[in-house]
Amino acid sequence: MRNMNQQILIVEDEPAMCDLLTSFFSEKAHKVDTVQDGEHAIARLEEHDYALVITDIKLPGMSGLELLARIRVDWPEVAVIIMTAFSSISSAVEAMKLGAEDYIGKPFQLDELGITVEKALERRSLRREVKELRAEVRGRYNFSNIIGRSKPMQQLFEVIKRIAARRDASALIIGSTGTGKELVARAIHYNSDRRDAPFVPINCSAIPDTLLESELFGHQKGAFTGAHENRRGLMEEAQGGTVFLDEINTLSPSLQVKLLRVLQERVVRRVGGRENIPIDIRLVSASNQDLEEAVKGGEFRQDLFYRLNVVPVLLPDLKDRREDIPLLVHHFLQKFAQHHGEPPRRFASDAMRVLMTHAWPGNVRELENAVEHALTMGSGEILLPEDLPASVTAPERDIVQEASLDDVALAEVERRYILRILEKMGGHQIKTASILGIDRRTLYRRLRQYRYAGRMRAEDEEETDESIGKGTAQATASL
Ligand SMILES: Nc1ncnc2c1ncn2[C@@H]1O[C@H](COP(=O)(O)OP(=O)(O)OP(=O)(O)O)[C@@H](O)[C@H]1O
Ligand SMILES: [Mg+2]
Repeated sequence: MRNMNQQILIVEDEPAMCDLLTSFFSEKAHKVDTVQDGEHAIARLEEHDYALVITDIKLPGMSGLELLARIRVDWPEVAVIIMTAFSSISSAVEAMKLGAEDYIGKPFQLDELGITVEKALERRSLRREVKELRAEVRGRYNFSNIIGRSKPMQQLFEVIKRIAARRDASALIIGSTGTGKELVARAIHYNSDRRDAPFVPINCSAIPDTLLESELFGHQKGAFTGAHENRRGLMEEAQGGTVFLDEINTLSPSLQVKLLRVLQERVVRRVGGRENIPIDIRLVSASNQDLEEAVKGGEFRQDLFYRLNVVPVLLPDLKDRREDIPLLVHHFLQKFAQHHGEPPRRFASDAMRVLMTHAWPGNVRELENAVEHALTMGSGEILLPEDLPASVTAPERDIVQEASLDDVALAEVERRYILRILEKMGGHQIKTASILGIDRRTLYRRLRQYRYAGRMRAEDEEETDESIGKGTAQATASL
């Protein structure tokens, strides 16, 4: 349908054929012009915006193939279909080599030509769409790999630039899971003059409290059991750079006090140490909960909140900026294709419709997972709705209603809900716990009850290792 109203130029020296084609395509709501030869065709192309040229191969003067060659050079966006006598297959082959979109042998059925034309127009508009998307993803809709054309995202780019320009300003990023908080924190760092010093991310909820303190501030030998040597903390490791404290809302009251002191005095003291070590870092923190609420509820210190929240950055949910979905999908398709050294594939329009309407509770991360899932499951160049994860294609089930039909216990409702969110998050426990608003250990206990433990345990350890390991690896590297 979207190919209606496109302008077609027919180059044909037989007037009866011209009339036939004109009335056929006009009926299909295309605008049609006809000319008798190649020279006139060129004159028309110079004046009008055609989507498609259908040309006979045998013309008086310039041949159809010469016209085709000229169009490829001067009007690369115009699709060309060649009409040739069935006896001259070799010229059809020649035409395809020269870049014709398709060819049709004479005599032909009008319907057959109609299908050839619609296919050519469809391919042309897809090519144009991909080209536009590519330009957008490379250009103003891409800021440090953050993709977005929607108004809130364009405003976000401005905010990031302003924060980046102020070397010491703290920023607090608030956004639901998967909205790109870490991406934004990195963008602030890499667009600031601290970019050559380290960016050190720390997930406050992934590390037990006592360990977190020594991770952040370091420790002296003998400060506690297992402290066999002096060790610098991540704040020191980040000297000159940026520390990213993720899930800051989970910081314990005692660490809140210590962090406040670091921000006020710009020094750290190692666990068990007596010396004040000056540090020059920017602190970027993130939370998936409204920290102001936590302050009101007395769980988060107000003075620390003010220190962290010098510049607030709010990340919108994906469902509130659906116009960014096609750009993001294109971006991820390109990214995965590049990563696997494959030619990029694309989504069929009904699959794209699913992507545009899904609620995306896991935001951009969930979208990225869905694209990767489809690339793995889909076998063709075009990805279909059934290639998407079931959690995306299935209509949202109403768990409460379902449960009341089955007369199940509250615990069973909880079990179904937890497992559903876990599936949505691709088995990622930290994310699942954060959406459910429960502690990770509580989630783990539940999963063990549900006999989910075997699979989860390996991932669990991996995650914790990763979050702690990051700092350790850096510390080793720079000592
Ligand atoms: N605007 C965006 N453009 C491109 N990629 C994005 C965008 N937002 C998020 N992503 C991608 O989505 C994934 C999740 O982003 P990120 O880890 O920054 O989210 P987050 O808000 O920190 O999530 P969480 O709260 O779960 O930690 C990453 O792979 C990231 O690259
Ligand atoms: Mg994050």
